[in-house]
Amino acid sequence: MSIHILGIESSCDDTSAAVISDGFLASNFIANQKVHEIYGGVIPELASRAHQQNIIPVVDTALKMAGLKISDISAVAFTRGPGLLGSLLVGTSFAKGLSIAKNIPMVEINHLQGHVLAHFIKEHNKENILPEFPFLCLLVSGGNTQIIVVRNYFEMEIIGATIDDAAGEAFDKTAKILGLPYPGGPLIDKLATAGNPNAFEFNKPKIQGLDYSFSGFKTSILYFIRDQIAINPNFIEENRADLCASVQRTIVEILMAKVKRAVRETGIKQIALAGGVSANSGLREAFAEFAQKERITAFIPEFKFTTDNAAMIAITGYYKFLQGEFASLDMVPLARMSF
Ligand code: KG4
Repeated sequence: MSIHILGIESSCDDTSAAVISDGFLASNFIANQKVHEIYGGVIPELASRAHQQNIIPVVDTALKMAGLKISDISAVAFTRGPGLLGSLLVGTSFAKGLSIAKNIPMVEINHLQGHVLAHFIKEHNKENILPEFPFLCLLVSGGNTQIIVVRNYFEMEIIGATIDDAAGEAFDKTAKILGLPYPGGPLIDKLATAGNPNAFEFNKPKIQGLDYSFSGFKTSILYFIRDQIAINPNFIEENRADLCASVQRTIVEILMAKVKRAVRETGIKQIALAGGVSANSGLREAFAEFAQKERITAFIPEFKFTTDNAAMIAITGYYKFLQGEFASLDMVPLARMSF
Protein backbone atom coordinates (compact mmCIF):
# COMPACT_ATOMS: atom_id res chain seq x y z
CA MET A 1 0.00 0.00 0.00
CA SER A 2 1.29 3.48 -0.88
CA ILE A 3 2.23 6.03 1.76
CA HIS A 4 0.73 9.45 1.01
CA ILE A 5 1.91 12.30 3.27
CA LEU A 6 0.03 15.60 3.24
CA GLY A 7 2.42 18.44 4.15
CA ILE A 8 1.30 21.81 5.54
CA GLU A 9 3.57 24.85 5.79
CA SER A 10 2.45 28.12 7.41
CA SER A 11 5.49 29.39 9.31
CA CYS A 12 5.72 32.87 7.78
CA ASP A 13 3.80 34.44 4.88
CA ASP A 14 3.33 31.52 2.46
CA THR A 15 0.44 29.09 2.87
CA SER A 16 1.44 25.84 1.24
CA ALA A 17 0.18 22.27 1.01
CA ALA A 18 1.82 19.34 -0.78
CA VAL A 19 1.56 15.60 -1.14
CA ILE A 20 4.52 13.22 -1.18
CA SER A 21 3.60 9.70 -2.30
CA ASP A 22 6.16 6.99 -1.48
CA GLY A 23 8.90 9.64 -1.46
CA PHE A 24 7.84 11.15 -4.83
CA LEU A 25 6.34 14.61 -5.30
CA ALA A 26 2.63 14.31 -6.14
CA SER A 27 1.72 18.00 -5.68
CA ASN A 28 3.04 21.24 -4.17
CA PHE A 29 0.82 24.31 -4.06
CA ILE A 30 1.73 27.70 -2.56
CA ALA A 31 -0.48 30.75 -1.95
CA ASN A 32 1.67 33.87 -1.51
CA GLN A 33 0.41 36.76 0.57
CA LYS A 34 0.59 40.05 -1.31
CA VAL A 35 -0.95 41.95 1.63
CA HIS A 36 2.49 42.68 3.19
CA GLU A 37 4.10 44.39 0.19
CA ILE A 38 2.95 47.92 1.03
CA TYR A 39 4.31 47.63 4.59
CA GLY A 40 7.88 46.74 3.58
CA GLY A 41 7.90 43.52 5.65
CA VAL A 42 5.71 40.72 6.95
CA ILE A 43 3.00 41.88 9.42
CA PRO A 44 2.40 38.85 11.71
CA GLU A 45 -1.29 39.51 12.41
CA LEU A 46 -2.08 39.96 8.71
CA ALA A 47 -0.10 36.79 7.91
CA SER A 48 -2.11 34.61 10.28
CA ARG A 49 -5.42 36.01 9.00
CA ALA A 50 -4.38 35.33 5.41
CA HIS A 51 -3.34 31.76 6.38
CA GLN A 52 -6.82 31.22 7.82
CA GLN A 53 -8.40 32.31 4.55
CA ASN A 54 -6.00 30.27 2.41
CA ILE A 55 -5.53 27.00 4.24
CA ILE A 56 -8.67 25.10 3.16
CA PRO A 57 -8.53 26.00 -0.56
CA VAL A 58 -4.74 25.39 -0.59
CA VAL A 59 -5.07 21.89 0.92
CA ASP A 60 -7.98 21.14 -1.39
CA THR A 61 -5.94 22.19 -4.42
CA ALA A 62 -2.91 20.12 -3.38
CA LEU A 63 -5.09 17.01 -2.95
CA LYS A 64 -6.78 17.54 -6.32
CA MET A 65 -3.42 18.08 -8.05
CA ALA A 66 -2.24 14.78 -6.53
CA GLY A 67 -5.45 13.05 -7.66
CA LEU A 68 -6.19 11.97 -4.07
CA LYS A 69 -8.98 12.26 -1.54
CA ILE A 70 -8.44 13.07 2.12
CA SER A 71 -9.27 9.43 2.96
CA ASP A 72 -6.18 8.33 0.96
CA ILE A 73 -3.80 10.31 3.21
CA SER A 74 -1.59 8.23 5.55
CA ALA A 75 -0.47 11.14 7.79
CA VAL A 76 -0.52 14.93 7.96
CA ALA A 77 2.88 16.59 8.46
CA PHE A 78 2.89 20.22 9.57
CA THR A 79 5.47 22.86 10.48
CA ARG A 80 5.66 23.12 14.28
CA GLY A 81 8.32 25.86 14.21
CA PRO A 82 10.38 27.99 14.09
CA GLY A 83 8.35 30.86 12.71
CA LEU A 84 5.65 33.40 13.51
CA LEU A 85 3.49 31.98 16.29
CA GLY A 86 0.15 33.19 14.89
CA SER A 87 1.01 31.76 11.46
CA LEU A 88 2.20 28.43 12.91
CA LEU A 89 -1.01 28.17 14.94
CA VAL A 90 -3.11 28.11 11.77
CA GLY A 91 -1.26 25.14 10.22
CA THR A 92 -0.98 23.32 13.55
CA SER A 93 -4.67 23.75 14.40
CA PHE A 94 -5.68 22.68 10.91
CA ALA A 95 -3.56 19.52 11.19
CA LYS A 96 -5.06 18.72 14.59
CA GLY A 97 -8.61 19.23 13.27
CA LEU A 98 -7.92 16.99 10.30
CA SER A 99 -6.31 14.38 12.51
CA ILE A 100 -9.33 14.22 14.84
CA ALA A 101 -11.99 14.42 12.12
CA LYS A 102 -10.44 11.82 9.82
CA ASN A 103 -8.48 9.75 12.31
CA ILE A 104 -5.17 10.46 10.54
CA PRO A 105 -1.87 10.51 12.48
CA MET A 106 0.07 13.79 12.71
CA VAL A 107 3.80 14.35 12.25
CA GLU A 108 5.42 17.55 13.56
CA ILE A 109 8.21 19.07 11.48
CA ASN A 110 11.04 21.48 12.20
CA HIS A 111 10.92 23.96 9.31
CA LEU A 112 14.74 24.15 9.11
CA GLN A 113 15.11 20.38 8.84
CA GLY A 114 12.50 20.59 6.09
CA HIS A 115 14.70 22.99 4.09
CA VAL A 116 17.64 20.59 4.41
CA LEU A 117 15.63 17.46 3.55
CA ALA A 118 14.10 19.13 0.47
CA HIS A 119 17.12 17.59 -1.25
CA PHE A 120 15.48 14.16 -0.82
CA ILE A 121 12.29 14.98 -2.74
CA LYS A 122 12.12 12.63 -5.71
CA GLU A 123 10.23 13.55 -8.86
CA HIS A 124 8.85 11.26 -11.55
CA ASN A 125 10.71 11.36 -14.89
CA LYS A 126 13.80 12.91 -13.28
CA GLU A 127 17.24 11.53 -12.50
CA ASN A 128 16.81 12.08 -8.73
CA ILE A 129 20.45 12.14 -7.65
CA LEU A 130 20.22 12.48 -3.85
CA PRO A 131 22.93 13.45 -1.35
CA GLU A 132 24.64 10.68 0.61
CA PHE A 133 25.37 11.05 4.34
CA PRO A 134 27.27 12.88 5.64
CA PHE A 135 26.96 16.13 3.70
CA LEU A 136 27.34 19.82 4.53
CA CYS A 137 24.37 22.13 4.08
CA LEU A 138 24.51 25.92 3.87
CA LEU A 139 21.06 26.99 5.03
CA VAL A 140 20.47 30.62 4.08
CA SER A 141 17.11 32.30 4.54
CA GLY A 142 15.45 35.42 5.87
CA GLY A 143 15.87 34.23 9.45
CA ASN A 144 18.81 31.80 9.39
CA THR A 145 22.35 31.42 8.16
CA GLN A 146 23.87 28.13 9.22
CA ILE A 147 26.39 25.54 8.13
CA ILE A 148 25.05 22.13 9.08
CA VAL A 149 26.67 18.70 9.09
CA VAL A 150 23.88 16.35 8.03
CA ARG A 151 24.79 12.90 9.32
CA ASN A 152 21.40 11.32 8.80
CA TYR A 153 17.82 12.41 8.11
CA PHE A 154 17.40 13.59 11.68
CA GLU A 155 20.97 13.82 12.92
CA MET A 156 22.10 17.34 12.11
CA GLU A 157 24.75 19.47 13.79
CA ILE A 158 25.10 23.24 13.33
CA ILE A 159 28.84 23.95 13.05
CA GLY A 160 28.53 27.62 12.09
CA ALA A 161 25.79 30.25 12.36
CA THR A 162 25.25 33.97 12.17
CA ILE A 163 25.81 35.90 15.37
CA ASP A 164 23.49 38.74 14.23
CA ASP A 165 21.63 39.21 10.92
CA ALA A 166 20.85 36.37 8.53
CA ALA A 167 22.02 36.50 4.90
CA GLY A 168 18.45 37.17 3.71
CA GLU A 169 18.22 40.12 6.11
CA ALA A 170 21.54 41.43 4.75
CA PHE A 171 20.03 41.38 1.25
CA ASP A 172 16.69 42.87 2.36
CA LYS A 173 18.12 45.59 4.62
CA THR A 174 20.67 46.64 2.00
CA ALA A 175 17.91 46.72 -0.59
CA LYS A 176 15.96 49.05 1.70
CA ILE A 177 18.98 51.38 1.96
CA LEU A 178 19.06 51.38 -1.85
CA GLY A 179 15.36 52.35 -1.95
CA LEU A 180 14.13 48.96 -3.20
CA PRO A 181 10.85 47.40 -1.99
CA TYR A 182 10.57 44.33 0.29
CA PRO A 183 11.71 41.60 -0.11
CA GLY A 184 14.80 43.13 -1.69
CA GLY A 185 16.86 39.95 -2.17
CA PRO A 186 15.34 38.90 -5.49
CA LEU A 187 15.51 42.52 -6.77
CA ILE A 188 19.21 42.89 -5.90
CA ASP A 189 19.80 39.61 -7.75
CA LYS A 190 17.92 40.88 -10.82
CA LEU A 191 19.52 44.34 -10.90
CA ALA A 192 22.99 42.87 -10.26
CA THR A 193 22.97 41.16 -13.67
CA ALA A 194 23.44 44.58 -15.33
CA GLY A 195 26.10 45.84 -12.90
CA ASN A 196 29.83 45.59 -12.24
CA PRO A 197 30.41 43.38 -9.17
CA ASN A 198 33.79 45.02 -8.53
CA ALA A 199 32.58 48.62 -8.72
CA PHE A 200 32.49 49.08 -4.92
CA GLU A 201 34.23 47.50 -1.92
CA PHE A 202 32.34 46.95 1.35
CA ASN A 203 33.52 45.74 4.75
CA LYS A 204 33.69 41.99 5.30
CA PRO A 205 33.41 40.63 8.85
CA LYS A 206 36.37 39.12 10.64
CA ILE A 207 34.64 36.44 12.68
CA GLN A 208 36.42 33.44 14.16
CA GLY A 209 35.65 29.87 13.13
CA LEU A 210 32.66 29.03 10.99
CA ASP A 211 30.30 31.72 12.27
CA TYR A 212 28.90 34.59 10.24
CA SER A 213 28.08 38.24 10.89
CA PHE A 214 26.31 40.67 8.56
CA SER A 215 25.54 43.68 10.75
CA GLY A 216 28.90 45.44 10.16
CA PHE A 217 28.55 44.92 6.42
CA LYS A 218 25.09 46.51 6.46
CA THR A 219 26.35 49.48 8.51
CA SER A 220 29.31 50.00 6.16
CA ILE A 221 26.87 50.28 3.23
CA LEU A 222 24.65 52.67 5.16
CA TYR A 223 27.58 55.05 5.89
CA PHE A 224 29.02 54.70 2.39
CA ILE A 225 25.68 55.64 0.79
CA ARG A 226 25.16 58.52 3.24
CA ASP A 227 28.59 59.97 2.38
CA GLN A 228 28.11 59.53 -1.37
CA ILE A 229 24.66 61.15 -1.34
CA ALA A 230 26.14 64.17 0.45
CA ILE A 231 28.37 64.64 -2.62
CA ASN A 232 25.88 63.58 -5.29
CA PRO A 233 22.14 63.35 -4.39
CA ASN A 234 21.55 61.07 -7.41
CA PHE A 235 24.29 58.60 -6.41
CA ILE A 236 21.96 55.63 -5.87
CA GLU A 237 19.96 56.15 -9.08
CA GLU A 238 23.13 56.59 -11.14
CA ASN A 239 24.85 53.50 -9.68
CA ARG A 240 22.00 51.15 -8.74
CA ALA A 241 23.09 48.15 -10.85
CA ASP A 242 26.76 48.46 -9.78
CA LEU A 243 25.73 48.80 -6.13
CA CYS A 244 23.51 45.69 -6.34
CA ALA A 245 26.22 43.68 -8.12
CA SER A 246 28.85 44.73 -5.55
CA VAL A 247 26.54 43.97 -2.61
CA GLN A 248 25.71 40.55 -4.03
CA ARG A 249 29.37 39.71 -4.72
CA THR A 250 30.32 40.68 -1.15
CA ILE A 251 27.52 38.64 0.51
CA VAL A 252 28.35 35.64 -1.67
CA GLU A 253 32.07 35.94 -0.80
CA ILE A 254 31.25 36.12 2.92
CA LEU A 255 29.03 33.01 2.65
CA MET A 256 31.47 31.02 0.52
CA ALA A 257 34.53 31.75 2.70
CA LYS A 258 33.04 29.75 5.58
CA VAL A 259 31.71 26.99 3.31
CA LYS A 260 35.25 26.52 1.95
CA ARG A 261 36.62 26.44 5.46
CA ALA A 262 33.97 23.92 6.59
CA VAL A 263 34.85 21.61 3.68
CA ARG A 264 38.57 21.90 4.56
CA GLU A 265 38.00 21.27 8.27
CA THR A 266 35.49 18.41 8.00
CA GLY A 267 36.81 16.72 4.85
CA ILE A 268 33.19 16.18 3.74
CA LYS A 269 32.93 15.97 -0.03
CA GLN A 270 29.29 16.88 -0.63
CA ILE A 271 27.78 20.32 -0.16
CA ALA A 272 24.15 21.39 -0.41
CA LEU A 273 22.38 24.76 -0.49
CA ALA A 274 18.99 25.39 1.12
CA GLY A 275 16.62 28.23 2.08
CA GLY A 276 15.23 31.31 0.35
CA VAL A 277 18.63 32.90 -0.41
CA SER A 278 19.68 29.72 -2.25
CA ALA A 279 17.67 31.18 -5.15
CA ASN A 280 20.41 33.81 -5.56
CA SER A 281 22.12 33.43 -8.94
CA GLY A 282 25.52 34.62 -7.67
CA LEU A 283 25.50 32.16 -4.77
CA ARG A 284 24.37 29.25 -6.96
CA GLU A 285 27.15 30.01 -9.43
CA ALA A 286 29.83 30.36 -6.73
CA PHE A 287 28.68 27.14 -5.06
CA ALA A 288 28.82 25.16 -8.31
CA GLU A 289 32.20 26.67 -9.30
CA PHE A 290 33.75 25.85 -5.93
CA ALA A 291 32.49 22.25 -6.08
CA GLN A 292 33.83 21.80 -9.59
CA LYS A 293 37.24 23.23 -8.63
CA GLU A 294 37.49 21.03 -5.52
CA ARG A 295 36.03 17.98 -7.32
CA ILE A 296 33.29 17.64 -4.77
CA THR A 297 29.54 17.31 -5.39
CA ALA A 298 27.19 20.28 -5.05
CA PHE A 299 23.44 19.93 -4.55
CA ILE A 300 21.65 23.09 -5.60
CA PRO A 301 17.87 23.03 -5.12
CA GLU A 302 15.40 23.70 -7.89
CA PHE A 303 13.91 27.19 -7.55
CA LYS A 304 10.52 25.80 -6.50
CA PHE A 305 12.15 24.25 -3.39
CA THR A 306 14.22 27.31 -2.36
CA THR A 307 11.30 29.29 -1.00
CA ASP A 308 9.04 28.11 1.85
CA ASN A 309 7.03 25.17 0.53
CA ALA A 310 5.07 22.23 1.93
CA ALA A 311 6.82 19.62 -0.24
CA MET A 312 9.86 19.86 2.06
CA ILE A 313 7.55 19.43 5.07
CA ALA A 314 5.88 16.41 3.47
CA ILE A 315 9.19 14.69 2.58
CA THR A 316 10.46 15.23 6.13
CA GLY A 317 7.12 13.85 7.35
CA TYR A 318 7.59 10.83 5.11
CA TYR A 319 10.89 9.89 6.79
CA LYS A 320 9.43 10.51 10.26
CA PHE A 321 6.41 8.38 9.31
CA LEU A 322 8.75 5.54 8.32
CA GLN A 323 10.39 5.85 11.74
CA GLY A 324 6.96 5.81 13.43
CA GLU A 325 7.42 9.26 15.01
CA PHE A 326 4.02 10.85 15.52
CA ALA A 327 2.84 14.01 17.29
CA SER A 328 0.23 14.07 20.04
CA LEU A 329 -2.79 16.37 20.13
CA ASP A 330 -1.45 18.40 23.09
CA MET A 331 1.56 19.51 21.03
CA VAL A 332 1.89 23.31 20.64
CA PRO A 333 3.70 25.31 17.93
CA LEU A 334 7.06 26.88 18.79
CA ALA A 335 8.29 30.26 17.54
CA ARG A 336 11.85 29.16 18.32
CA MET A 337 13.01 25.64 17.72
CA SER A 338 16.46 24.13 17.21
CA PHE A 339 17.36 20.75 15.73
O1 KG4 B 1 13.48 30.82 3.29
P1 KG4 B 1 12.70 32.03 2.94
O2 KG4 B 1 11.75 31.91 1.76
O3 KG4 B 1 11.83 32.50 4.14
C1 KG4 B 1 12.21 33.08 5.33
O4 KG4 B 1 13.30 32.85 5.87
O5 KG4 B 1 11.33 33.83 5.82
O6 KG4 B 1 13.75 33.20 2.67
C2 KG4 B 1 13.36 34.50 2.33
C3 KG4 B 1 14.62 35.32 2.10
C4 KG4 B 1 14.34 36.81 1.96
O7 KG4 B 1 15.27 37.49 2.78
C5 KG4 B 1 14.58 37.09 0.49
O8 KG4 B 1 15.03 38.39 0.21
C6 KG4 B 1 15.66 36.06 0.18
O9 KG4 B 1 15.26 34.91 0.88
N1 KG4 B 1 15.76 35.77 -1.27
C7 KG4 B 1 16.83 36.12 -2.02
C8 KG4 B 1 16.54 35.69 -3.34
N2 KG4 B 1 15.31 35.10 -3.33
C9 KG4 B 1 14.85 35.16 -2.04
N3 KG4 B 1 17.98 36.72 -1.68
C10 KG4 B 1 18.87 36.92 -2.67
N4 KG4 B 1 18.66 36.55 -3.96
C11 KG4 B 1 17.53 35.94 -4.33
N5 KG4 B 1 17.34 35.58 -5.60
